[in-house]
Amino acid sequence: MEVVILGGSRQIGRLAADAVEQLVRRKPDAVLGLATGSSPLPVYDELAARHGQGLDFSQASAFALDEYVGLPAGHPASYREVVRREFTNRVNIAPENVHVPDGTAADIPAACAAYEEAMAAAGGIDLQLLGVGTDGHIGFNEPCSSFASRTRIKSLIEQTRRDNARFFDNLGGVPHHVITQGLGTIMAARHVILLATGAQKAQAVRDLVEGPVAAICPASVLQFHPHATILLDEAAASAL
Ligand code: GLP
Repeated sequence: MEVVILGGSRQIGRLAADAVEQLVRRKPDAVLGLATGSSPLPVYDELAARHGQGLDFSQASAFALDEYVGLPAGHPASYREVVRREFTNRVNIAPENVHVPDGTAADIPAACAAYEEAMAAAGGIDLQLLGVGTDGHIGFNEPCSSFASRTRIKSLIEQTRRDNARFFDNLGGVPHHVITQGLGTIMAARHVILLATGAQKAQAVRDLVEGPVAAICPASVLQFHPHATILLDEAAASAL
């Protein structure tokens, strides 16, 4: 695990964008794993700017980490919309190459299995961007998720619903259920870059970097990843 402490989110965004740019230049049909939440936004801003200067995503594809269950199509907080709005609409990834778990599926287990199959058919994730929840979740793998888990339905704990309520009209609007890539799915990505900023992430960062590898902090599984990069600002690194 490589831990890099930087001056702020602009620098974090640039360093993560450098990794994406190098990948896409070396392998134009790269498969990107996309995170939502606030943490990756500076990366997407930077990549949109670099696309404006010619960085080409026309052969790339992307898979989102997770999605809420039951939000109507087009809901502004659905990750399908967030991924489009914040990243894929701002670069030239073909819309048919952008994949998000189907939170409206009638048969959720079948949709989860199909999602895993689509990732495998694309050749697996080359570079997975991740944020981390204040409880140490990655994707929506809440504490005590299995390290072997694959894409599946999960329920959110109250802390995560409260943390994410800012994207909804009120707490009551935050779904209780989600589809998320599993920890096993995330661990299969060839390179993982986790981004965390702010003092509210300091404890989760300490647990994931220095704590025991334990399901109570799902992100700690990344200690076993052969190529995991953790990009932090000083506040997020303050408990290390
Ligand atoms: C949500 C997402 C996670 C994300 C987390 C942290 O729960 N499902 O993928 O890492 O929020 O979000 P933020 O970066 O806004 O703190």
